[in-house]
Amino acid sequence: MQTTYIVGNWKMHGDQTMVHHFCQQLKALTDKKLTDKAHQSHSQGVVCPPFPYLAMMQEALAETSIAVGAQNCAAYPQGAYTGEVSAAMLKSLGCEFVILGHSERRQLFAEDNAVIAEKCHQAQQAKLRPILCLGETLAQQQQGKTQEIIKNQLNSILLLENAPQLMQNALLAYEPIWAIGTGKTATPEQAQDVHRFIREEVAEYDQHLAHRLPILYGGSVKPDNAQALFRMPDINGALIGGASLSAKDFMGIYQCSL
Ligand code: PGA
Repeated sequence: MQTTYIVGNWKMHGDQTMVHHFCQQLKALTDKKLTDKAHQSHSQGVVCPPFPYLAMMQEALAETSIAVGAQNCAAYPQGAYTGEVSAAMLKSLGCEFVILGHSERRQLFAEDNAVIAEKCHQAQQAKLRPILCLGETLAQQQQGKTQEIIKNQLNSILLLENAPQLMQNALLAYEPIWAIGTGKTATPEQAQDVHRFIREEVAEYDQHLAHRLPILYGGSVKPDNAQALFRMPDINGALIGGASLSAKDFMGIYQCSL
């Protein structure tokens, strides 16, 4: 049975008080019944706060089944890279997952496919599971270029010599940029079409991998639209921005996966 991943991406939001309240609320909402249900239905919740709050959140959520992940990592293992955080450092803080290639990293910090591939390599070396984000802009979608863009982003990893290692424990997240933070979600059918395309592309490369690869959807996922998205055969969870800042909404979406 395919695991469903519910991943919260806090982006650059929050402070210590908010982390404290979020974790308290989340713990209040996760009783044994819910944890057992999550276990049975193979659902994994993950929260990715900003770097400074990772240790605090990891400690606060230690007795829950919710994992902690990071939003980025360096493209280098260690050294004179002022301001960077290595994958190994994240692993040592208890992270299991790291979001890579988010459209905000690509657009605002000029991360290209080559840098993202290098970050994937670092994550894999540190035994972190990369959540690799793919997605097209509104203009690209309107020009009918969605598949071409996704294929390029995918191939930048799949055509590498070390792709089998990079993809071994990876998750993909399809995030149409026009749906991020806009309140505009892709319809379940629209998302399913792209997810199916991604799976077919991966299948050309490795059928076995395509079958087990989790492909999450991201872009204005909320408790009231999550269920319809999760019913789609090729949608294996969600990458959630805005709604993940509220423990109630995050758990509401998590509940939809059970
Ligand atoms: P959103 O963000 O849920 O606020 O649209 C999604 C994301 O950027 O991962």
